[in-house]
Amino acid sequence: MSRQDTPAPGENAPERAHQDFSQSLSYGDYLRLDALKAAHQPITDAHDEHLFIAVHHVSEVWLALIVRELRAAMDLLDRGITDAPLKMLTRVVRAQEQLTNAWEVLKTMTPADYLLFRHAFGQASGFQSAGYRMVEFLLGNRQSVMLRPHEHRPDLHDPLHEALNGPSVYDLALRLLAARGLPVPAEVLGRDFTQKPVLNEEVLQAWLTVYRDTETYWDLYELAEKLLDVEDNFRRWRFNHLTTVERTIGFKAGSGGTSGAGYLRQALSTVLFPELWEVRTRL
Ligand code: HEM
Repeated sequence: MSRQDTPAPGENAPERAHQDFSQSLSYGDYLRLDALKAAHQPITDAHDEHLFIAVHHVSEVWLALIVRELRAAMDLLDRGITDAPLKMLTRVVRAQEQLTNAWEVLKTMTPADYLLFRHAFGQASGFQSAGYRMVEFLLGNRQSVMLRPHEHRPDLHDPLHEALNGPSVYDLALRLLAARGLPVPAEVLGRDFTQKPVLNEEVLQAWLTVYRDTETYWDLYELAEKLLDVEDNFRRWRFNHLTTVERTIGFKAGSGGTSGAGYLRQALSTVLFPELWEVRTRL
């Protein structure tokens, strides 16, 4: 059969797809997959170091997306808009689920596998993850000491410093309560943002009003429940991290210099939105 006789491909045939990318962006060009793959650089020959790096990379990509969505939601909340941020916070919740699922893959690595490459990364630790710290700061879990590991990198340090000194997503929600005429004390609205929030009885009473009259305050009620979803998922991530750490390194100190599992266990008691948890007890 001559070339001319070749039957034209059917409408579902792969031959119909674009084949020549000498003049236009291909999939790999657009996603810069060469750069992505170039970042995957194990230091040892240990089989599991690939897994270790991949799970951290994937986690950082999700964290970056979460930061972007949180910032967009906060920008809208700051302008008094309550419906559109719900969509962004839902995306945060879904991305958190992906982050938490990543432990299932990592847990296939045994302590013996891990020890084959542990020496390679020295003092590096997720403790120094600027992406994770930004998520914590935006959600209100703040400690200025967490800025220190980033002092040598102004590009990472300065946005974190700015976030530490600005309102959290919860502070913006409290401003919305006040804007709707609910009594939120001035000292709470103008609090020192560098500190973690502490439970305030008047704020609790304001949320109780919202939860008792959901018809009037439906949007604030939905926002509160969405924030609770975010904190719920954050707790799951923390718990799964701790369990993975315990099964991998036991109670050895962390590469980042903390006590390890003890430090992570203490972090489990963090409460981001204190009144939203307490409101359940008081209803
Ligand atoms: C077997 C794997 C892992 C082990 C043994 C481990 C161990 C630890 C330890 C011991 C700490 C406490 C800080 C320190 O290093 O002294 C820590 C912190 C941290 N790790 Fe991991 N980790 C693992 C995987 C991951 C992964 C995949 C991520 C994903 C990003 C991650 C993110 C973090 C973050 C964000 C912190 C800081 C937590 C905080 O300050 O509350 N870790 N890790």
